[in-house]
Amino acid sequence: MQSSLEVAIIGAGYVGLSTAVALALAGHRVRVVEQQTQKLEVLQQGQVPFFEPDLEAAILLCADNLCFTAQMQKAVPTADIIILAVSTPPSPAHGADLRQVFAALHQLAVFLPDRQQVLVVKSTVPVGTHLEIQTLMQQLAPDANLAIASNPEFLRQGRALRDAVFPDRIVIGASETWAFARLQQLYAPIMAGIVQVPENLEIHRPKHAIPILEVSAASAELAKYAANAFLAMKISFMNEIANVCDSTGADIGDIKSTLQLDTRIGADFLNAGLGYGGSCFPKDTKALSQLALRSGYEFRLLKAVIEVNNEQKYRALNKLEHVLHGLRDKQIAILGLSFKPDTADTRESIGVDLIEELLARGAMVKAHDPMLAQLQLPEFSQGVTLCSDLANCLESCDAAILVTEWRCYQEANWALLGQRMSQRIMFDGRNTLSLKAMQEADFVYIGIGRN
Ligand code: UGA
Repeated sequence: MQSSLEVAIIGAGYVGLSTAVALALAGHRVRVVEQQTQKLEVLQQGQVPFFEPDLEAAILLCADNLCFTAQMQKAVPTADIIILAVSTPPSPAHGADLRQVFAALHQLAVFLPDRQQVLVVKSTVPVGTHLEIQTLMQQLAPDANLAIASNPEFLRQGRALRDAVFPDRIVIGASETWAFARLQQLYAPIMAGIVQVPENLEIHRPKHAIPILEVSAASAELAKYAANAFLAMKISFMNEIANVCDSTGADIGDIKSTLQLDTRIGADFLNAGLGYGGSCFPKDTKALSQLALRSGYEFRLLKAVIEVNNEQKYRALNKLEHVLHGLRDKQIAILGLSFKPDTADTRESIGVDLIEELLARGAMVKAHDPMLAQLQLPEFSQGVTLCSDLANCLESCDAAILVTEWRCYQEANWALLGQRMSQRIMFDGRNTLSLKAMQEADFVYIGIGRN
């Protein structure tokens, strides 16, 4: 029988809420502190304030173990473990902005009791932040008995709960043995794979125990950046290979099939496309590059990864411009505005970047996304029409660019939809449509390295 712990989680974003639900499902008593009133009200009604599959169903399963409050004093004093999961957005100089982290620490410091507690940093923070936190907490709460631990998360939006309950590994950087032991207790049900989950997640339950790694706090902090940078590197590498495919007549699908059967390379994150977006890879690659530079090392490979990613979407647009003999006064459909499918997040959205570039090149844009109503979009200048209906979006367009591989685009009847367009030209920026179907629908099809 596992003994349950009292857990306080600060911040109910993707990371905080998914972690809270996973730990409540694991049998711990979790109190989440969320200070945005609107968000809090939604959470207190058992709903999720953003789109993320499975979370709402899971909250129903663990409602007895989970509660939400705006007040630190209702969660912090009784907690065995306090998990910091506030956001660390990009800072103007491309590092991570730690203001929310330090604000939360100032607020919670006054409620720390004098018994042993572990303060876990789950937010992605630059290497060395644990030392700054340690110094600050000694000043703010000299009588507290606090151990600081770094415990990065590796969950993906769109499958955040699944990644939180069935992670590939758990990484803990704790300076004190008792703190590591307590975190081992926290994660024991997850490591043993015995957490109750919504039915549709059952098929993903791993057949093996989940490993837990005990590392230094600095290593834990750096491991998070290294993991994201490595995945970003895989994507930029495949994008470069795809560009070589375009100039040589080889096919990126064949290359991917060959690479993914090599267990040394691994099967995932080999999809060439318009580049990576979202709130993590762009921010974390820049932050790591900067961090390395500050420590006296120029991380040249990572610089190239970032450069390739920045250029990839414009390289694609150049290709389309060539096919259309110019973009001026052409009507282009952008399909997909969230940074990837199964999320309504538009941070570092390639679709948004492409709209701005198309406008700059004199085109008119119609844009579609299946979650349009839930998206936070910038104010576009004149020349952009947002459509919640795909057929309306394609009406009179000279070409479409598929930016986000939502399932609705794969399942669409392109023979019918093509009739709405002025010219049947499809730029598949995620290599996701069937070549055969597009050929049968009479489209000029352009992919990324797909020949
Ligand atoms: C990423 C990491 O995958 C998580 O492990 C990490 O915890 C998270 O960042 C974070 O730091 O919080 P996320 O940004 O949610 O997760 O999304 P991913 O699924 O990794 O996709 C990121 C971008 O890469 C998307 O724009 C996606 O379209 C692109 N991508 C992904 C490709 O272009 N090709 C691929 O093969 C895979």
